[in-house]
Amino acid sequence: MHGNFEFCNPTKIFFGKGAIENLEAELKGYGKTVMLVYGGGSIKKNGIYDKVTQILAKCGKTVVEDGGVMPNPTSDKLAEGAKIARENDVDLILAVGGGSVCDYSKAVSVSAYCNDDPWEKYYERMEDVDNKIIPVGCVLTMAGTGSEMNGGAVITNHHKKLKVGHVFGYNVFPKFSVLDPEYTFSLPVYQMKAGCYDIMSHILEQYFSGEDDNVSDYIAEGLMKCLINSSRAAVKNPCDYEARSNIMWTATLALNTLTAMGKTTDWMVHMLGQAVGAYTDATHGMTLAAVSMAYYKMILPSGKAKFARFARNVWNVVDCGDETKMALAGLAEMEKWMKEIGLVMNLSELGVKENMIEGIADATFILDGGYKVLTREEVVEVLRQSM
Ligand code: NZQ
Ligand code: ZN
Repeated sequence: MHGNFEFCNPTKIFFGKGAIENLEAELKGYGKTVMLVYGGGSIKKNGIYDKVTQILAKCGKTVVEDGGVMPNPTSDKLAEGAKIARENDVDLILAVGGGSVCDYSKAVSVSAYCNDDPWEKYYERMEDVDNKIIPVGCVLTMAGTGSEMNGGAVITNHHKKLKVGHVFGYNVFPKFSVLDPEYTFSLPVYQMKAGCYDIMSHILEQYFSGEDDNVSDYIAEGLMKCLINSSRAAVKNPCDYEARSNIMWTATLALNTLTAMGKTTDWMVHMLGQAVGAYTDATHGMTLAAVSMAYYKMILPSGKAKFARFARNVWNVVDCGDETKMALAGLAEMEKWMKEIGLVMNLSELGVKENMIEGIADATFILDGGYKVLTREEVVEVLRQSM
């Protein structure tokens, strides 16, 4: 492993059936006013809202509610939430939901006391936080993003047609996260599948980069094998606890910074997917699935050795001694798995029209950590191939 690194993950995790029982003790460490953040109402249907509000009442907290966080939370909603948090002088933001609710809560935590326009400061100028940060805790209801144990907060600006992620430092990571796999049972199957591919994509973005023998890549291979098995089992039976618990913890480990230690990373599939999201508001994991095969086929000639290793170590393809054939076989196996579990394999199905492609290409940030730095023309080509 050639890279130097600093590793620290300050998020405390409570994992497993009934993990919510730890919330009461945990809440004692925070002040009186809790801002309860949630999405479009799924937590009111599956009973999680009742459970959490009972615990908050038992702890004697004053609760300020901020519901209605949409999938792919917007800069307008962020401005609303920041105002609520500031005006109520909240002591803790409790995010109860999926990645959107967790991301939004972190964005609110750094924006409530920001004297600038938060979108411009954090998402255009990419500046660090230099104001008071409100602590965030999460009760996760959907596995995929890893937001429960990282500093990421992705916000969509519809006025500017941009979807941008800011990766904040340790001081913005959730202080604690409650992960009960049974909480994900009520998730629509489409969302479960999208979450599975989001996890796969996070691992691949970190795996397909660099040439040195690196412990992070071996961890990544183990996580991918677990995800492939568990996603197959969960698609057959969404209430398979073993599968859902593996998926949930894999999601967290895939993007809690562990698998990026000591190496470079790519993240171009996410840049493409986020630009698609800015134009369509489509489900995050599906935007990634729709562009992945075209992207990986394009970069494969520049990273053949790693793609061949991917075939061998992740998909158990028997080594035929020809690197190109191995590399292609690995991708073919991945494509088969993607179709088998029912992912969206093209952009048209997500509402992308031919006349959007140039705009999506303009909204795609080009990064240089992967095996090939794309030109703008190649971005357009990947998007066209993905239609
Ligand atoms: O809003 P509600 O009613 O809660 O419904 C949600 C939403 O419609 C529903 N859902 C969640 N848990 C449920 C449930 N429905 C029934 N039962 C449950 N237990 O699922 C839908 C999708 O939820 P959402 O939170 O939007 O999904 P996800 O967790 O995939 O989060 C997506 C957001 O995270 C960002 C994405 O860009 C996107 O904005 N990401 C954040 C990252 C990070 N922080 O590091 C990295 C990722 O790459 C990603 O970009
Ligand atoms: Zn993602």
